Amino acid sequence: MSKFRNFKMVDYVIYGRGSFDQLDEILSPNRKDNSPMIFLVDHFFKGKALTERIPVQGKDKVIFADVTYEPKTTYVDKIAGELKEEFGTVSGVIGIGGGSTMDLAKAVSLMMTNPGSSADYQGWDLVRFPGVYKVGIPTLSGTGAEVSRTTVLTGPTRKLGMNSDFTPFNQIVLDPELAANVPVNQRFYTGMDCYIHCIESLQGTYLNEFSKSYGEKALELCREVFLEKNTWDNESDDKLMMASYAGGMSIAYSQVGVAHAVSYGLAFLLGTKHGVGNCIVMNHLEEYYPEGTAEFKQMVEKSKVEIPQGICKGLSDEEFDTMINVSLGMKPLWENALGKDWEKIMTRVKLRELYERL
Ligand SMILES: [Fe+2]
Repeated sequence: MSKFRNFKMVDYVIYGRGSFDQLDEILSPNRKDNSPMIFLVDHFFKGKALTERIPVQGKDKVIFADVTYEPKTTYVDKIAGELKEEFGTVSGVIGIGGGSTMDLAKAVSLMMTNPGSSADYQGWDLVRFPGVYKVGIPTLSGTGAEVSRTTVLTGPTRKLGMNSDFTPFNQIVLDPELAANVPVNQRFYTGMDCYIHCIESLQGTYLNEFSKSYGEKALELCREVFLEKNTWDNESDDKLMMASYAGGMSIAYSQVGVAHAVSYGLAFLLGTKHGVGNCIVMNHLEEYYPEGTAEFKQMVEKSKVEIPQGICKGLSDEEFDTMINVSLGMKPLWENALGKDWEKIMTRVKLRELYERL
């Protein structure tokens, strides 16, 4: 592996309240021949006003994505397969929603041009061909999926992304107006994903000035939004959308840590969604991130949000082992969090104890 990461970024970024209305103009030059644009939209928006504003033309298709669970490789393959059957090829895929919807859009775009199953490409740099044109439009802030070079998928044997230079979006549309009306719990859980990215990046051994610059800014914005302000307003959405972007840029050049590594085990076994899973874990990480955990708890209190407890009650030894295996498999995350000797620190016994507390 090369010493320095030479990372591929999103090609175009537009930011601002109402910028979604420029989507038609943005898509126009990217429409190829007669092939359609495919809008993958979080099913939350079914029947809502946003749907009316999607610039649908000709054969374009709107697909409401079921993101009750995080995207599975089978779901990606199904959507891509049906699109290939119906249209042969498409001009582009536009994901409108939270992290799951955006990741789904990236994956479907890649599977329009790469043979086989998306499960074949879970890993690093396995994707062979650029996908079709893809656009990410977050309606929920925090995951950083809008800037990441991965698309996290649950496959038959693992939860792992299609991590490649072909994965980042060609265009993202950051319109904070779209984040209005998100249910409070959801907004908090996803916002905390960003806060946790900052803590894990800034406290990690992989830290460098590049990551630090973005991480510190994102952390400052999270604090303004979740601790300093007393009411949620437009400015909160403006700030959190930029925090998500900067937090994503921070981890792009460092790595996440303990909360993510442990939460991946929960997601794999129990289907716990990323945002809430991270919160469940972060609630118990005093040993690893003492200040971050204390501040996280302040944010929970201020937002009057419940963090689920006792989710590992009654699990079998085998189930604990599954989570432990998935979690310990995330080697770079542990190394970033605990250093080169992480295996001596985070033993199976210790990780089991942590899971039992959740
Ligand atoms: Fe995350």
